Amino acid sequence: MYRLLIIISPIVLIITLLFNTITPAEEVKPNSCLSCHEDVFIKAASYRYRHSVVTEQCPLCHISPETKDNIIALRNLPTLQREWLIYFDQLSNDQGYQAEIVLTDSNGKSCAPDHIDIVKKNIWEPDRQRASLELKKLFRVAVDEIQKRGFVRATISWDTDVPATSDIEYGLRGERPGTFKINDLYTRNHKIILNGLKHKSTYYFRTVSRDIYGNTLRSEEHTLDTSGEFTRPTELKGDDAALPVVEHMQVFRMPGNKGLYLKVSANKLSEISVKIKEIKNISKNHGVGLTAARYSRIDICYKCHSHDSSHPVGIKAVSPKTKTPDGLPTIEDGIITCVTCHEPHGGERVHYNRFDFKQDLCMRCHLQKYSI
Ligand code: HEC
Ligand code: HEC
Ligand code: HEC
Ligand code: HEC
Ligand code: HEC
Repeated sequence: MYRLLIIISPIVLIITLLFNTITPAEEVKPNSCLSCHEDVFIKAASYRYRHSVVTEQCPLCHISPETKDNIIALRNLPTLQREWLIYFDQLSNDQGYQAEIVLTDSNGKSCAPDHIDIVKKNIWEPDRQRASLELKKLFRVAVDEIQKRGFVRATISWDTDVPATSDIEYGLRGERPGTFKINDLYTRNHKIILNGLKHKSTYYFRTVSRDIYGNTLRSEEHTLDTSGEFTRPTELKGDDAALPVVEHMQVFRMPGNKGLYLKVSANKLSEISVKIKEIKNISKNHGVGLTAARYSRIDICYKCHSHDSSHPVGIKAVSPKTKTPDGLPTIEDGIITCVTCHEPHGGERVHYNRFDFKQDLCMRCHLQKYSI
């Protein structure tokens, strides 16, 4: 016991000296690793062949360099609106997220980014809003514009009393109608641009909107004639000098749906851009988390060692001439990494070899003769 203490104390001194002089890539301090993983350091420092990076920078290989800004969904919606309901399907129940919202008005002026945390306590009960989000009216269906280039392009718009999806069914008489859908976006003012229409034809169309409960309304049949160009004069509403501002935002979940709805309203007609980021739990021990196996065993090694310095890695034994070795560490079910052959923390053998490279190294995996 006493002997152990005597051995340890000079090392601790060296550690302190060393670690005060380097700046780690992350905010995680290397000496904080040693309070729990001192054994690893002591072993690394006592190897015959030392890997200096290990005794100097524990976090480099192990602590994820990812920042908090890990964007997992991005939506840019270019039509001017005052209210949006956006559905995000891939958000997990256990992870916290943050939505960043930027509004831009028709003059190109944007508000400063606004944020809402998507965490359990901020997600509303689904039923309370029921009455106010139920679709009852679909109206003001109009052809806004017909433009003729190589093909014809038509802009169709309509309104609904609550936020709902925008679908259109259209076609020529006697043909099966096509459909165009905008998924996951619920608005009151709908606009769809149909591209690739034929010249001098009469198309029939119906607009369709569905609310978040699945209630669907379909307009009566309308026609659009592609013989001439045409633009409906638009009333520019609310185009004053005020900056766009987020007036209200909320997050809610519907029973039976795994995703989440984000509801945003603005003081004036704007375009919206939404980024969803993961909120990383920063722990004192492991920062934003430990790195993936491939990163700490391959990617980071290339930071200092050249790609052609050694054997191919990131591969599995696929040919009948090779096999995956027993007793050597691989990842993801047999993928060879740098540390399949080398010890990462340094070692007793030259090149930190896991075993004697002179003795049939290659034959552990290659069934045909190889020599170095
Ligand atoms: C307060 C104690 C503590 C501190 C400080 C700490 N760790 Fe850990 N670490 C643990 C524990 C406990 C585990 C095992 C459980 C786990 O995976 O979280 C672990 C696991 C690990 C593993 C995975 C080991 C394996 O078998 O896969 C690595 C690598 C690691 N830590 C590196 C570090 C590094 C690098 C630092 C410094 C930035 C550090 N740790 C700081 C307690 C700590
Ligand atoms: C050059 C990159 C690198 C550095 C620097 C590094 N490690 Fe590791 N470490 C690895 C790799 C790769 C493994 C996985 C080894 C394996 O698969 O056998 C590992 C394994 C570990 C483990 C789990 C297995 C064990 O040996 O206990 C711990 C804990 C650990 N490291 C802690 C640390 C600490 C503490 C430091 C700083 C003193 C450090 N590492 C520095 C690459 C590194
Ligand atoms: C920050 C730079 C850095 C990183 C990252 C790094 N190394 Fe090294 N490595 C070195 C240096 C420098 C040496 C020379 C010995 C020393 O001074 O530590 C070395 C030596 C080695 C040697 C022995 C070379 C010889 O000539 O005997 C091997 C093998 C090795 N590293 C493998 C790895 C592996 C595997 C990884 C990834 C797990 C890795 N290194 C990551 C810097 C790095
Ligand atoms: C299949 C086993 C194997 C794998 C996998 C492997 N090496 Fe090696 N490595 C060797 C052998 C054998 C030598 C000795 C070669 C020699 O003596 O010329 C060596 C030597 C080295 C050396 C020292 C000589 C030099 O060229 O600088 C470094 C550094 C090194 N390897 C790094 C790596 C890195 C980094 C990886 C991952 C990208 C890796 N090795 C993957 C077997 C391997
Ligand atoms: C840990 C297992 C392992 C060891 C040890 C190993 N290899 Fe490989 N090697 C592989 C695998 C797996 C492939 C992928 C190709 C395949 O499956 O045919 C490969 C591919 C290669 C290739 C690329 C060309 C090819 O055949 O596809 C060369 C060259 C090579 N190895 C040489 C060597 C030499 C020389 C040694 C001894 C220093 C060695 N290997 C040791 C597993 C290994």
